[in-house]
Amino acid sequence: MSDTMKAPPSEVSEIVDVLFAHKDMVRKYTPGGRYIDMQSDVDSPWVPFGENAAIKHLAFDVRQNAWSNVLWMKGPGTIGTHLHRGTVTMVCITGSVRYLEYDWVASPGGLILEVPGEAHTLVTDHPEGCRLFGWMQGPIEFYDAEAKFIEAIDVWWNMKHYETYCEENGIPINEKLYL
Ligand SMILES: [Fe+2]
Repeated sequence: MSDTMKAPPSEVSEIVDVLFAHKDMVRKYTPGGRYIDMQSDVDSPWVPFGENAAIKHLAFDVRQNAWSNVLWMKGPGTIGTHLHRGTVTMVCITGSVRYLEYDWVASPGGLILEVPGEAHTLVTDHPEGCRLFGWMQGPIEFYDAEAKFIEAIDVWWNMKHYETYCEENGIPINEKLYL
């Protein structure tokens, strides 16, 4: 066995006060580590996204133009052709999903990685659609069937999508979602 790893799993379950010099600054300027429930609507509601889909927003990072959410396609359907300018790290939670441009099908527990510069069209054929958890970096450019640019999705679009729905439905804005 390799002895290069010096931090073994602990056998003692107790808090150790680590003497990090700047912990007061960390406490003052960050919301800290947090838990965001994505199984319920307690932390974030399902916000309609078109006729047959919804988004549960989980995190917004304006400095990185990045965001996290669960995309729920409620039945067979398509997310139109889009071009990524940033990366995507996504996990299929339920159902299945594929892309017209690729030959694989993602199933629950599978990891999907998307790279800047790729354009593709997301399709679910599953009777129950799919739920996809992801970290996205923007912008994502959407195009119509004639390859004409329609709209760019970025962290600001996602914050607006979340906040507009909350305002219209009397739901308080959850500060935990803002990094
Ligand atoms: Fe994509």
